[in-house]
Amino acid sequence: MMKKTSFPLSEVYRLLESGPVVLVTTARAGRANIMPMSWHLMMEFEPPLVGCVISDRNYSFETLKTTKECVLNIPTVELAKTVVDCGNTSGRRTDKFKTFELTPVAAKSVKASLIAECYASLECKVRDGKLVAKYNFFILEVVQAWIDPTLKRPPTIHHQGEGEFMVAGRILHLPSKMTSLARNKNPARRPPRP
Ligand SMILES: Cc1cc2nc3c(=O)[nH]c(=O)nc-3n(C[C@H](O)[C@H](O)[C@H](O)COP(=O)(O)O)c2cc1C
Repeated sequence: MMKKTSFPLSEVYRLLESGPVVLVTTARAGRANIMPMSWHLMMEFEPPLVGCVISDRNYSFETLKTTKECVLNIPTVELAKTVVDCGNTSGRRTDKFKTFELTPVAAKSVKASLIAECYASLECKVRDGKLVAKYNFFILEVVQAWIDPTLKRPPTIHHQGEGEFMVAGRILHLPSKMTSLARNKNPARRPPRP
């Protein structure tokens, strides 16, 4: 049994904010930018839909709203310090690719660049912007995905708030209805959402 005590509402995000931190790249009028983001969630298998919250105070917000395109790049622990540095600066004043020595690679379907140093990159288009005005919430569709297949267990970093990160590690294999095998057997009826 867990013995629970009350937890401040202002800290709740620290319990749930555990997907991998991604570096969102955008581009407008020849200006490329990078923004770390951890408030994102999967919303659909295929086509993959990803919901994300991007503050309207960030330079990336205006760019994404205008161009409707971005790339979600997934870094591993080796880039942790760079991730934090990117989050402490704004593309309004800083060329983050140059300052943090990251390498842009041309994408296939969007103008924003992939980051060569990240193990995966997801090219995205804004599929639905209806909740942007109210919640700064963008629904993205992944239109092209890239991955380094040599990395079997990428040590992604997961923000815990207040400058703390959890590094991905242990893997457990347990029988579950959420496998691709179960999905493919009966594609018309998806397994229940977790
Ligand atoms: C680990 C980490 C996670 C972050 N997650 C988000 C997020 O989910 N949404 C957001 O709007 N800002 C997030 N930020 C803050 C932005 O990355 C930060 O404000 C950045 O400087 C904005 O850059 P820009 O002005 O060039 O767009 C995060 C920062 C860090 C370091």
